[in-house]
Amino acid sequence: MEIVHTIADLKARIAAFKKEKKTIGLVPTMGALHRGHASLVIRSVSENDVTVVSVFVNPTQFNDKNDLANYPRTLDADCKLLESLNATVVFAPAAEEIYPEPDTRSFSYPPTDTVMEGAFRPGHFNGVCQIVSKLFMFTEPDRAYLGEKDFQQIAVIKAMVKDQGFPLQIVPCPIVREEDGLALSSRNTLLTAEERQIAPAIFKALSESVDYSKTHTVEETKTMVTNQINGVEGLEVQYYEIVNAETLASVSQWTEAEHIQGCITVFCGHTPIRLIDNIKYK
Ligand code: PAF
Repeated sequence: MEIVHTIADLKARIAAFKKEKKTIGLVPTMGALHRGHASLVIRSVSENDVTVVSVFVNPTQFNDKNDLANYPRTLDADCKLLESLNATVVFAPAAEEIYPEPDTRSFSYPPTDTVMEGAFRPGHFNGVCQIVSKLFMFTEPDRAYLGEKDFQQIAVIKAMVKDQGFPLQIVPCPIVREEDGLALSSRNTLLTAEERQIAPAIFKALSESVDYSKTHTVEETKTMVTNQINGVEGLEVQYYEIVNAETLASVSQWTEAEHIQGCITVFCGHTPIRLIDNIKYK
């Protein structure tokens, strides 16, 4: 496995792979890798000749300076894990390498990027599109692997791929969970022991709501999930939306869309840590 830090070095490796007609899988990450990321890398390694993993805490997608400063950074451990998973190249650039000048491009794909995370984190998805489009340009992957924990991010990136005409396939990969149901996230390492104990209540409410939804309306299901989570001391729902899984527009009837997903963000503890999760209704 090679670790490269510059765009020029990355592009030189990519040019060599392309010459040999090798297929390229890209796993974009912000590091602090866990089993969720590992599942993306394992899938990419099994489906491509070459797997490039980017490790870059992208400043333009953080709308909160503290969140950016506190984001865990563990490059050495990340590289050890990636080596054991047979990744081919790790791209770990400095911020100045990616943004020698401020990125003034703006991306807009409503409603995918304006609802939920888009409404509560202004500019977040624009930053995601800025970095992901650059990674696609530098890496020219055949496939890009993204975790479904960030369900909305996948919808926004799919819209960006269509709009920009990137010739690649987005491969959504299932959420990996702890035994107690908590969705794996790099931010989980920031939870105190007490916060870690209450956090699984989020997935518990979501999974119980699937049965509940069969005999209740969309509105009643939203209320059930919100009340159950807010009933746990230390947890506070920021939003719970039940949406068309393709457009991310809210639905009011279960019959309104072929695929329906519930997407939630919850504040956990005093800091607080913002946890996101989602569940498929149909
Ligand atoms: O999901 C993430 O970790 C990030 O948003 C991504 C896709 C790597 C872009 O910085």
